[in-house]
Amino acid sequence: MSPVIQAAGGGDEEPLLPVKKIPGSYGIPFLSPIRDRLDFYYFQGQDDFFKSRIQQYGSTVFRVNMPPGPFMARNSQVIAVLDAKSFPVLFDVSKVEKRDVFTGTYMPSTSLTGGYRVCSYLDPSEPAHAKIKQLLFTLLASRKSYVIPSFRTSYASLFQTMESDLAASTGAKSDFNKLNDTTAFDFLGDAYFGVVPSSTSLGNEGPSKASKWLFFQLCPLMTLGLPKILEELFLHSFPLPSFLAKSDYKALYGYFSSAAAPVLDAADKLGLSREEACHNLLFATIFNSYGGVKVLFPGILKWLALADPKLHSRLADEIRSAVKAEGGKVTLAAIEKMELTKSVVYEALRMDPPVKFQYGKAKHDLVIESHDSSYMVSKGEMIFGYQPLATQDTKVFENGGEFVGDRFVGDEGKKLLKYVLWSNGHETENPTVRDKQCAGKDFVVLVGRLLVVEFFLRYDTFTAEVGTILLGAQVTFTSLTKATSSS
Ligand code: HEM
Repeated sequence: MSPVIQAAGGGDEEPLLPVKKIPGSYGIPFLSPIRDRLDFYYFQGQDDFFKSRIQQYGSTVFRVNMPPGPFMARNSQVIAVLDAKSFPVLFDVSKVEKRDVFTGTYMPSTSLTGGYRVCSYLDPSEPAHAKIKQLLFTLLASRKSYVIPSFRTSYASLFQTMESDLAASTGAKSDFNKLNDTTAFDFLGDAYFGVVPSSTSLGNEGPSKASKWLFFQLCPLMTLGLPKILEELFLHSFPLPSFLAKSDYKALYGYFSSAAAPVLDAADKLGLSREEACHNLLFATIFNSYGGVKVLFPGILKWLALADPKLHSRLADEIRSAVKAEGGKVTLAAIEKMELTKSVVYEALRMDPPVKFQYGKAKHDLVIESHDSSYMVSKGEMIFGYQPLATQDTKVFENGGEFVGDRFVGDEGKKLLKYVLWSNGHETENPTVRDKQCAGKDFVVLVGRLLVVEFFLRYDTFTAEVGTILLGAQVTFTSLTKATSSS
């Protein structure tokens, strides 16, 4: 049968560019994947790993082995797509299969998710996908009016703790990530289910249990700064035994089976078993939402910390006058008017998409187009995108590697939003049950904005030390300057 060849990429109906053979090779089986893994984690680091190969091959599309490799993944061979034009092939579920590729070339044991393959691992062609995603849409829509008040209460308390930390002694610092880990957990439980996890039998142990469970799934993608040989052996080569996280998972599950009881009733009506729904709610809340916010919030504050303090004053002015115009209330309408605040959040998501890797297997033979060539991909080959290189593409964004707070302000700025891809889709599009775009897209953008709003309602400016931790930025505050005006 002749292959079905479809162009993939930017989507503009132009004639195909000259077809080139995809450069790069997978090298010697077993050895080269390990060599590539060492380059990725230790010798080059993520960005240089890709940038050096773009230089070497003169192409933003090439063949390479992606970590973790042996023995964690059966096949580490991928075709990397690293520019704004080729990357979107990964969003087109008529071209790529998204079954079991959420974490990449390896998949954590389903014994970490109650024996179920949860929504993030399902291809939209699988019947359970639409039901579960619909359940999440319904949940988020039904809790819409609780998000702002819940966020404000939770984060007001976080900022108060930061102030006390900083006032404790001269030169004192406050670790935002640590406080965020605790606050975000309670905020999400309260916002989604109306039950603050720390007020249940979970007590204060929710965040540590959640982080341990996340670690068991994500450690193949992490480095901890331990001796390489230990990391290679314990993190990157074999899965950690899932029974070691079993009791933590059980305690977390207990919270969901009781706090989310009304949502489980709704699941029944959609034809989902309560048990499958409950494991999915746990995953969407703790992996997708909590895992996401753990990275997103420090990411936003990192860029604000590194920015010119003039940006802080412009944000404070914009936020305070919009809130004042709403009678002093933080409302969705007020936030909608905050052009600069919205732009800053999009820009942070563009510079540092919290989920950096996306994968999809070619459903049939197809052609991928980059800016200057097209490439044949065969059915079954794994396509992989490293998102920061697609969203910092200088062919689309002027000074694409720089944080420009007001990049998305105004009509011209808004035209660029389609190139913001953090949600596994264009920012100008919305998730549906038929695609794999993030189910929490609106929620994520809203809470990102709320963080900036709540912060600049309280403070004029701040200073912080910025570093890296596991999968994101570490932000440690060194000073906070309280708001001197209310508008
Ligand atoms: C900063 C926060 C978040 C980021 C960066 C993020 C990012 C993503 C990305 C990149 C994907 C696609 C992964 C892939 O298939 O390759 C995804 C999928 C998904 N996200 Fe999010 N997400 C975030 C928060 C949330 C929240 C708050 C929810 C709440 C419901 C959520 C629910 C989901 C679900 C259910 C999927 C699978 C969608 C499907 O199967 O169609 N995410 N997310």
